[in-house]
Amino acid sequence: MQVFSTVAEFRQACTQAKRPLGLVPTMGALHAGHTALIRRSVDECKTTAATLFVNPAQFGPKEDFNSYPRNVQADMGTFEHEGVNLLFTPSTDEVYPPDFDTWVHAGKLSERLEGEFRPGHFRGVATVVCKLLSIARPDKAYFGQKDVQQTLVIKRINTDLNLGADIVVVPTVREPDGLALSSRNVKLNPDERRVATVLYNALSLAKEAVANGATDAGAIRAAMEELLRKEPLAQMDYATITDASTLEQLDAISRPALALIAARIGKTRLIDNMPLYP
Ligand code: PAJ
Repeated sequence: MQVFSTVAEFRQACTQAKRPLGLVPTMGALHAGHTALIRRSVDECKTTAATLFVNPAQFGPKEDFNSYPRNVQADMGTFEHEGVNLLFTPSTDEVYPPDFDTWVHAGKLSERLEGEFRPGHFRGVATVVCKLLSIARPDKAYFGQKDVQQTLVIKRINTDLNLGADIVVVPTVREPDGLALSSRNVKLNPDERRVATVLYNALSLAKEAVANGATDAGAIRAAMEELLRKEPLAQMDYATITDASTLEQLDAISRPALALIAARIGKTRLIDNMPLYP
């Protein structure tokens, strides 16, 4: 595995890499969700490039940038072990030099849900992913279903700005009790960890209702909210059912949909989602 910290060196290595080239952007603190993305790329591509950069631009002023889990030594071992060929670990200044002044805004998709609760979040995501796709020019880029709104925003900018990658979405990897793997899960204390399964349980309730023929999104939303409200340690930001591609809230489930939840468990904010097929 070759490791690069400058844009110029990483770009050159990507230009010379055997194609197809797969790109796996991460913020580190790797877990089995990240390795699922890496394995898919290693499986499908001749060269796999990964990036490790905790992107300050996607954290709000009151969010957990400083306390975001960091585990660079262990991550390097994982990237290497999983078969990553090229690893980009830039400094903040390398990505955002002092005179940096261009931002990518992905319109309506970035204003709903996470965009409403984390203003500026998707501006930071869209900008850094646009830069990474522009630097690496991969054939394929891999993202997790766990952050489904992020995948939709990234597909939008990839199409609208002609970045030319095939965006591959990898299914969510979960703990045996259903909790979606997340770098932030290490912040949960044992009580919070137990309660955190409420997100998956509420999403499963929605999935089961739809599998049994329910189409009233309002009723399912109410049932998800009720389950979340029963957990005193969980503070819900939203629990909703939307169209699977526009993220507009649905009244009736008559086309591919998503159930999405964001909740704070203690001080840790978790998100999860479930595709629903009527
Ligand atoms: P990060 O949270 O490190 O996630 C990196 C990638 O791993 C994302 O595409 C995310 O959706 C995926 N991922 C996380 N948990 C997963 C799980 N349980 N199952 C499957 N995939 C999972 O998302 C980011 O970083 C950043 O926003 C980034 C795209 C790197 C831009 O800074």
